[in-house]
Amino acid sequence: MANTIKAGEQERSGLPRHIAIILDGNGRWAKKRGLPRTAGHAVGAETFRKIATYCKNIGVEYLTVYAFSTENWKRPPEEVKTIMKLLKNYLQEAIDTMEKDKIKMKVLGDVDELSDELKEMVAHTNEISQRYEGFQANICLNYGGRAEIVKAAERYAADLAAGKVQPGLDEAGFASYLYSAGIPDPDLLIRPGGEKRLSNFLLWQCAYSEFYYTDVLWPDFSTAELDKAIAEFQSRDRRYGKVKNP
Ligand code: FPP
Repeated sequence: MANTIKAGEQERSGLPRHIAIILDGNGRWAKKRGLPRTAGHAVGAETFRKIATYCKNIGVEYLTVYAFSTENWKRPPEEVKTIMKLLKNYLQEAIDTMEKDKIKMKVLGDVDELSDELKEMVAHTNEISQRYEGFQANICLNYGGRAEIVKAAERYAADLAAGKVQPGLDEAGFASYLYSAGIPDPDLLIRPGGEKRLSNFLLWQCAYSEFYYTDVLWPDFSTAELDKAIAEFQSRDRRYGKVKNP
């Protein structure tokens, strides 16, 4: 796909407004090359950078990636440390260039368990983002879809008990309590790495997303592969439960 689609033309071009990606296959990519798993994560972080830039250039408005789940803490400590370091470096660079690059960055997940340093960076990134318009990258960090829904229910219950909201909740009202408040649902969900499951990612938000799976491992995921996923998305018939020609 040529880089000719400008932001705002998504409706006409059929470009997904929001793409979500489960970053998978870093470990296998490294193992195939006789490298430590952490080397796969380092290349995976570069792939994220490349794909985020491409999404922004072709006019995708939101890119959300699953970088670290609530279950990923069970990985070897060295691997967890490397992933956190990569995220820290990425957030630091983002903070330095967000204004220049016209990007917004948001971290979705339970940040309380992160290091104080990372917590501060997350808060800073989220705060700066509120000042900008434009492409938004969301990084799901210490994220779990079920936990997100439970937390949203707890927050709503607390607001109700405090008299901040009236009884009666609709879907849009509930969604405003999720980490993803204000972000449109993903149109296209991509999972590289060969698995065909959701793994507790954006359970609420993916209700009507189109799914695209590929055996390509995340570090090898290219802009051409993204074009393929987008082309397949454009060939899908999204009916949202309706009948097209009754
Ligand atoms: C899954 O691959 C990948 C992860 C759990 C970590 C993803 C994190 C990064 C790419 C670094 C984060 C940086 C940014 C900027 C988003 P896996 O290890 O489960 O692969 P495997 O299934 O082959 O073992």
